[in-house]
Amino acid sequence: MAEIVYAFGASHGPLLSTPPHEWDLRANVDRKNPELAYRDGTFDFAQLAALRKADGFEKQNTLDVRTERYDRCQKQLDELGRRTLSQDFDVLVIVGDDQHEWFMPDTQPTFAIFHGKEVFNRALTQKEEADTIARGGGYAMKVYFPPKDEIYPTPVDLAESMIHRAMDEGFDVTACASQPQEGGQPRKLGHAYGFIYRRILNSKPIPLVPILINTFYPPNQPTPRRCFEFGRSLGRAIKAWGPGKRVAVAASGGVSHFVVDEDFDYRILKAMQANDWDTICKEPQIMFRSGTSETKNWIVMAGIIAETKLKMELLDYVPCYRSEAGTGSGMAFATWE
Ligand SMILES: [Fe+2]
Repeated sequence: MAEIVYAFGASHGPLLSTPPHEWDLRANVDRKNPELAYRDGTFDFAQLAALRKADGFEKQNTLDVRTERYDRCQKQLDELGRRTLSQDFDVLVIVGDDQHEWFMPDTQPTFAIFHGKEVFNRALTQKEEADTIARGGGYAMKVYFPPKDEIYPTPVDLAESMIHRAMDEGFDVTACASQPQEGGQPRKLGHAYGFIYRRILNSKPIPLVPILINTFYPPNQPTPRRCFEFGRSLGRAIKAWGPGKRVAVAASGGVSHFVVDEDFDYRILKAMQANDWDTICKEPQIMFRSGTSETKNWIVMAGIIAETKLKMELLDYVPCYRSEAGTGSGMAFATWE
């Protein structure tokens, strides 16, 4: 039997790498977004600002408050790195969402598991770098992509046993045997995985099994309950892996964004702390839209955790507001030991 020894969850949004005085770069994108998802509604910026006027977000959006929130997040990202790198484990299973990074709209798997020999986190080409900077992603690019190519080995036997188990247990999972290619080179590693390596693991080439969830794009996003049950299946497969093996798990992304919903975030995080899986599974599907959908990565991980005796420690929850409409990111950082 293998043992799941440690887990962590981390938000990974661009505000984590953008200096607070530059958060308006992102707020200006929100101002032009006609489809801001908030609870069961969809709003343009002016409608959302009017709806949430009583919340007084302008008070949370001063440079002082932004700086205090940014610093809190950096402290927890550093702490996650310290804790994770001090653990003894053989492989890190990362649950992330694929945002048309490996898979494109032509074929968009609900659940996919990579079972090739290695994951290639390639550096951006000069053109990709210039394009990213032109789109306002210059700060974030440094925490998603390495300056030089990096390779993380994948334990194929573990990945394949996860696939077999999933199939046995009613999940018709997509098996990804090699990194999708484009123009003769591998597509870029998704931001959900790159962030963990670049910002938290300090580029240490720890063996990796990527689990790719389509949280974002209609029409085939999994429900919260399905995510949880899929996680349980993964957890059982991990435990049945080779004797003496030690496995860590990470959930990347979430919680609410690009409209911050503190009630939603606290509801999910409290339920996770209480191992109250039913509350999480009953959360309506409509609550998981846009960036908030990445919270499902945490729900898959919760399913894995449910197969262990690990205990959650919420390091911090930091609502990072960047506009008077309450746009921004709810940032959560937690470990299970
Ligand atoms: Fe993301």
